[in-house]
Amino acid sequence: MTDHYCVLGNPVAHSRSPAIHAQFAAQSGQDVVYEALLAPLEGFADTVHGFIAAGGKGANVTVPFKEEAFRLSNRLSARAERAGAVNTLTFTADEIAGDNTDGAGLVRDIEANLGFPLAGKRILLLGAGGAARGVIAPLLACKPAGLTIANRSADKAQALAEQFSDIAAVDAGNFAKTAGSRFDVIINATSASLAGEALPLPAGIFAPGSLAYDMMYGKGETPFLALARAQGAAHLADGLGMLVEQAAEAFLVWRGVRPDSRPVLAALRTQLAA
Ligand code: ATR
Repeated sequence: MTDHYCVLGNPVAHSRSPAIHAQFAAQSGQDVVYEALLAPLEGFADTVHGFIAAGGKGANVTVPFKEEAFRLSNRLSARAERAGAVNTLTFTADEIAGDNTDGAGLVRDIEANLGFPLAGKRILLLGAGGAARGVIAPLLACKPAGLTIANRSADKAQALAEQFSDIAAVDAGNFAKTAGSRFDVIINATSASLAGEALPLPAGIFAPGSLAYDMMYGKGETPFLALARAQGAAHLADGLGMLVEQAAEAFLVWRGVRPDSRPVLAALRTQLAA
């Protein structure tokens, strides 16, 4: 029997998740159908319950519903609890289980796909919203030399650092506070690229051989990656790999099989450049 999954968002028509999961299913011989489902802004829970009633087995959740999905879950994985957000729901007879695969997806893209081990590295995370929060614990689990959070509003960065202080000491402040420091990995988790804006980063913060990673992706270079290139970052990566890897991790949660993400990422990259 075919199992049904979906991605819930608003908007969602642009989502690449159905194409990604279709390739994972074909590759692994899993009998799965995956669709994009638009949830009304005030109707997320109703849409989830409707999908469950129709026999749905699970759902990915995207903007702007990840916090609502967190609240709707009857059971949370440890990583979803830490993230304060859910991007992967699994439905069983009596339960909605919430998980979050975003952080695992980011780490896997950086370490496995880009070949950049994070242990012992100095990491700078830009942003203090939901996207940043979701990746902090997975980054700390890689045992970096240090993690710094920089945000336009310093108080939000400090509040976020405080929430993870039981795992490790995390530095926090505004962008200007990073002046004089050098980082091996700088990750953009702000939504500034969406507005086409560059961040006011001080010069000299990219260490020799450093990686600049933008969680955003799009046709052409994002403003953050353009800035990173100008400031001498040695490696540049956008968030397309994270998108595919968070999907692969969700597929693993649902189906118990880890798909081969490489051909899927390569195909998406070709499409994006076209
Ligand atoms: P998301 O879920 O994508 O993280 P969010 O929770 O609204 O969205 O957080 C957006 C992040 O992008 C915040 O860190 C925000 O900075 P503030 O906390 O100071 O608002 C950051 N951001 C958005 N636009 C920005 C811009 N033009 N310049 C710098 N930071 C920006």
